[in-house]
Amino acid sequence: MIISMYSGKGGVGKSFLTAQLIHNGFEAIDLDPFGDIFDRYEDKSIYLNEDEEIPDLSSIKSDLVLDFKGGKDKRIHNALDQSDLLIIPVIPSRETVSTTIKTIDYIDHDIPKLFVFNIVGKKSNLEQTIEVLNDMIKDFKYSIVRYSEAYLTSVNNSQGIIQMSKEKGIRGGAYTTHAREIQQFLNKVEEFRV
Ligand SMILES: Nc1ncnc2c1ncn2[C@@H]1O[C@H](COP(=O)(O)OP(=O)(O)OP(=O)(O)O)[C@@H](O)[C@H]1O
Ligand SMILES: [Mg+2]
Repeated sequence: MIISMYSGKGGVGKSFLTAQLIHNGFEAIDLDPFGDIFDRYEDKSIYLNEDEEIPDLSSIKSDLVLDFKGGKDKRIHNALDQSDLLIIPVIPSRETVSTTIKTIDYIDHDIPKLFVFNIVGKKSNLEQTIEVLNDMIKDFKYSIVRYSEAYLTSVNNSQGIIQMSKEKGIRGGAYTTHAREIQQFLNKVEEFRV
């Protein structure tokens, strides 16, 4: 399965979700020239410069995620032609509703899409954002990942949250709800496997 991880908006959790996928069997292409996926997962990823095209991926057998950076990148069109799924992380707020719509207009592709509401805080913001986007996007599928320091720990230690929750003792136990959240995200992704 090939996934494009993209949003016009920066800092919404594309690389964070990419890392969680890497910890659960995916390999990655790092398309962010200042990104750190390749630095952290050298044996699981390759790095492409801004001026390097995305290669033909038809012979790739492994599960693969393409981690874009925020902003426009013309390579997204080629990427989507070769992908099974587009994941668009969204931080729920009025601002991100408009950037999400702009993102969809920019990519202009009818690929299956999974929205991930990430860094979720107040429930009312989440509910409002879901309501608005649900009206605007047909066949709207989403997953929810809350804001948590635990996820920052996961990034800082380059560990998957599910793996962290399996550690023995109180430490592992502290991550149970987060692991469940990421497992739900992974299950949603699996629904798109063709
Ligand atoms: N659910 C979460 N809870 C807490 N912190 C998070 C969560 N998701 C992501 N972060 C943190 O938010 C910051 C931005 O995330 P990330 O770097 O993944 O965004 P990005 O979309 O890849 O950004 P860019 O567009 O620059 O590539 C990072 O410090 C990351 O660790
Ligand atoms: Mg990133």
